[in-house]
Amino acid sequence: MRIDIITCVPDLLHSFFSHSILKRAQQAGHAEIVVHDLRQYSTNKHRTIDDYAFGGGAGMVMQVEPIARCIRDLQSRHEYDEVIYLTPDGERLNQGIVNQLSLKGNLIMLCGHYKGVDQRVRDLFVTRELSIGDYVLSGGELGAAVLVDSIVRLIPGVLNDETSALTDSFQDNLLAPPVYSRPADFEGSKVPDILLSGHEAKIEDWRYEQALIRTRTRRPDLLD
Ligand code: ADE
Repeated sequence: MRIDIITCVPDLLHSFFSHSILKRAQQAGHAEIVVHDLRQYSTNKHRTIDDYAFGGGAGMVMQVEPIARCIRDLQSRHEYDEVIYLTPDGERLNQGIVNQLSLKGNLIMLCGHYKGVDQRVRDLFVTRELSIGDYVLSGGELGAAVLVDSIVRLIPGVLNDETSALTDSFQDNLLAPPVYSRPADFEGSKVPDILLSGHEAKIEDWRYEQALIRTRTRRPDLLD
C-alpha cells in the first residue's frame, strides 16, 4: 500500500513516520508513506497556498489550484482508491472504517489548515472526508498520522504477532480485556488465578467475560 499525504507542514509528519512500527512497515516493504509539501505546488514567488475567503470573514482558505496540481501529479503516476480529506466536519473515524481502508490499494490524504480548503477541492477531488473526533485541531496532520498508524498496523505482516491486531479493542465491538505479565504477585496485588491455570478454553471465556464487563461499564454504546 502506498499512502501519499499532502500538507503545508511536512516536517510535522516526517519524524512521526520514521519511528517504530511505521518505520518497520516501510523498511519491510508493507507500506510506502510519502509526505508532500503543498507549497512546492504553488506557482507564486512566495509559495503561498492560501488566500482570503470570497464574501469576507475571518480566516484564510487553502486554494484549489496548488491542491489540484498536487493531486493530479500523483494521479498521473499512481492509481489511488481514495482521496481522503481530514476535517472536523467529516465522518467520524472508527475501527470499522480503518479496517475497510486497510484493505484498499493506494490512498491520498489531504490535510486542511486555516478555514479549510476551497469547497471545489472537496467537490472535485475528495472521495471521503474523515474526522478523528469531535474537537477542532489546528490542522489535519494529526488526523492523518492517526489514520496512517491505525491502517498500517492492520496490513498483514506488519505486527509481529498477527493475532494481536485481531484482539484489539473495538475489533469485535468489545473493548480489550485486562492483561497481566510477571510478576504474578506485585506487593500483594495478584494476577487472577485463571490466567495461571493453563486452561486455554477457560481463559478465553474469562477474557470474553471481562471484555463484556469493560464494554458495558465504559462504552455501553458499543453494545447497542
Ligand atoms: N482537522 C482539524 N480538526 C480535525 C479533526 N477533528 N479531525 C480531522 N481533521 C481535523
